[in-house]
Amino acid sequence: MLSKQDISERILVQEHLAKEHLPDDMSREDVERYKARIKALLKEKDACLVAHYYTDPIIQELAEETGGCVADSLEMARFGSVRPEKTLLVAGVRFMGETAKILSPEKRILMPTLEATCSLDIGCPAPEFTAFCDAHPDYEVVVYANTSAAVKARADWVVTSSIALDVVEHLADEGKKIIWAPDKHLGAYVQKETGIDMLMWDGACIVHEEFKAKGLLDLKQVYPDAAILVHPESPASVIELADAVGSTSQLIKAAAELPNRELIVATDRGIFYKMQQAAPDKVFIEAPTGGSGATCRSCAHCPWMALNGLENIVTALEEGRDEVLVDAALIDEARKPLQRMLDFSAALKG
Ligand code: 13P
Ligand code: SF4
Repeated sequence: MLSKQDISERILVQEHLAKEHLPDDMSREDVERYKARIKALLKEKDACLVAHYYTDPIIQELAEETGGCVADSLEMARFGSVRPEKTLLVAGVRFMGETAKILSPEKRILMPTLEATCSLDIGCPAPEFTAFCDAHPDYEVVVYANTSAAVKARADWVVTSSIALDVVEHLADEGKKIIWAPDKHLGAYVQKETGIDMLMWDGACIVHEEFKAKGLLDLKQVYPDAAILVHPESPASVIELADAVGSTSQLIKAAAELPNRELIVATDRGIFYKMQQAAPDKVFIEAPTGGSGATCRSCAHCPWMALNGLENIVTALEEGRDEVLVDAALIDEARKPLQRMLDFSAALKG
C-alpha cells in the first residue's frame, strides 16, 4: 500500500512551490530584468497581457501586475473583447489567440509563439469535421473553444468548459440533437449530465487523459479526507471520483469553498498559482498521472502552454512577431457562434 513517504515532493504542491523555480534556469535578476522590459513594452505598444491559468506563474503574476488578466478560456475571450488597448498579447495556446482575433478583428493579436497549439485542435481538422457535419444536417453543431477558426466557422455554438453544461442543457430543453467536438471526455460528461442526443467526435486532451482512477484511489487511501477536483477533459473513470468537476475557474472557486483542508487536483499544475491564492490555508496534492501508483511519469503540464516564456513575450512585443492572422471571411462566420456563447453567458449572469 502507498504511504506518504512514497509520494514525490512534486506531487505535494506546497513543498514543491516553496522552493524557488525560475523559468528556463534564469536567475532572479534575469527575471526581474525581463519583467521590467515587458512592463515598459506593454505601455509603449499600447498592449494588454491576457494569460491562461496554465502558463508559468511568472507570466500570470506579470499579467496581474500590468492590469491584464489571468483567466479561463471563456473569461480570456470576454476580457480581451472589451479592452481598450490596440494590441492584445495572449499567453496561452493558439485557439485562445484566434478567439481574441475573431472577437476583436481591429486589434493586433500577438502570441509569445504561434507554435503553442492543443491536441484537441490538432485532432479536429476542418475538412473532415465539415464533412461529418454535412453528413448529419439535422444536428445542431456545438464545438469546444479548443478548435481552429475554420471549425468554429462551421458551428452553431462554441462553448468552453465553464459554460458547456448550461448551453447543452438549454439545447436539450429545446429538444435539439447535437454534434459535439472535439473532446470525447468532456462530451461524455456533458451527455451524461444533460441526457442530450449527441454524436461525438473522437478527440482528447493529451494532458488530462493521463489522469488515472487507480492512481487517484491509491492517493485517496493516503489522504482519506481530501476532496478530489477534476477538470472535465479527464476520463469518465476519473470524473466519477470527483467531489467537484469544472473548468479552471470553477475548480479554483471549489478549492476555496469546499470544507476539506486537503485537495487532490486533476488538472494542469499551472493552476496552483491562483488556487493557492484563493485558498491559502489548504494543502494541494497533484493528481498522479500515467502510472499505477502515485508517482509522476507523464507530468500534469501542457507542453504547449509551457512554450510561453518571458523571452518570447519580449520578442513578440519588440518585433511584432507571432501575430495571429485569421482570414476575414472566417472571422465573420466564426464570430457568430462565439458571440452567441458570450451573449448566453452574459444572460446567465443576469
Ligand atoms: P478552461 O476553459 O477550463 O480554462 O480550459 C481550457 C483548457 O485548455 C483546459 O485544458
Ligand atoms: Fe489543449 Fe489539453 Fe493543453 Fe488544454 S491542456 S491546451 S486541452 S492540450
